[in-house]
Amino acid sequence: MTVKKCLFPVAGLGTRFLPVTKEIAKEMLPLVNRPIISYGVEEALSSGCEDIVMITGRTKRSIENYFDRSFELEEILKSRGKLELYYKMIHISEMAEMMYIRQREPLGLGHAVLCGEPVCKGEYFGVILPDDVFVGEVPVLSQLVKVHERLGGSVVALEKVSDNDVSRYGIAAGEEKEPGIFRINDMIEKPKLSEAPSRYAIMGRYVLSPEIFPILHNQQAGAGGEIQLTDAIRELAKSEPVWGVVYEGRRFDCGTQKGWLSANIQLALEDEDLRKVVMDIVNSQK
Ligand code: G1P
Repeated sequence: MTVKKCLFPVAGLGTRFLPVTKEIAKEMLPLVNRPIISYGVEEALSSGCEDIVMITGRTKRSIENYFDRSFELEEILKSRGKLELYYKMIHISEMAEMMYIRQREPLGLGHAVLCGEPVCKGEYFGVILPDDVFVGEVPVLSQLVKVHERLGGSVVALEKVSDNDVSRYGIAAGEEKEPGIFRINDMIEKPKLSEAPSRYAIMGRYVLSPEIFPILHNQQAGAGGEIQLTDAIRELAKSEPVWGVVYEGRRFDCGTQKGWLSANIQLALEDEDLRKVVMDIVNSQK
C-alpha cells in the first residue's frame, strides 16, 4: 500500500506572474537558491515516491530541461575545474525518474490529474501542487502516505484558514476520528463563506485512489467552469474512505507574487549567510 508515483500538475499559464511567465514557467522562479519546483520534487522523493510525473504544457519546456542532462554546461564546468557545481548539475538530472505528459487544454485541476491515468492506473498515487511549498521536519506528503498506509483510502492535507480565505480554497468537512484526522464526507471548491462546510482548506498535497479516474472521466465542470479535483474527491468519499489530515509544518504560497516574495524573504532570513543581507537592507531603510 505504498505510494510510488507522484503527479505534478504544472500546465497552468501562471498569469499572476506575467510578464515574467510569458517566457519562464512559474515553477522555475527561484525560491532563495533553487526553482520552486525542486522543493516539491524533493518532498515527493523523501516521501518514498520514485516516479515523478509532470502534467505539463507547451510553455513548460524549461522544467523538462531543468531535470535533464546539460552536456554543454557540464563539459564547461568540468573543463574549468568547477567540479562541485558539475556534480551538483549531474545530481539534479539523476535524482528522479521523470515522466512528462501533456495536458493539451487547460480544463482544470481534475482534468490535469486525469491526464496521469495512463501511468497511475490501478495504484494509489501522490499529487503535489508545487505552488504550495512546505517546510518542516517531516515532509507533508509523507505524513499523508503514513495515514494511507495505516488506514487505507485517499488522504488530503488540511489547514485551518480564516473566514477571509475560505473562498480561495477547496474546503473539506468530516468527522474527527483521531486528533487531526478527519473522515471526509463533504468538500466544496472555493465556496462562499456562508456555504463553507468548515474552515479546513485543502492544501496542495493528496494521496489518491485510482478509483478517482472513472469519476474524473464523468466529472462535469464546477467552480470557475473547470473540472475540479475537489468535486471528484467528494464523489469518491461516498464509496471509499477519504481522510483529511491537519499537516504539521509551514506552508508558503508561491502561487502569488506577494506570497512568493514573502517566502523568499522568510527563507533568506533563515539562511545563515543570507540573513545578514536581508537585515542590512532593512536596517539601512529610514
Ligand atoms: C487548488 C485546488 C484547491 C486547493 C488549492 C490549494 O486551487 O483546486 O482545492 O485548496 O489548490 O492551493 P487553485 O489554487 O489551483 O485555485
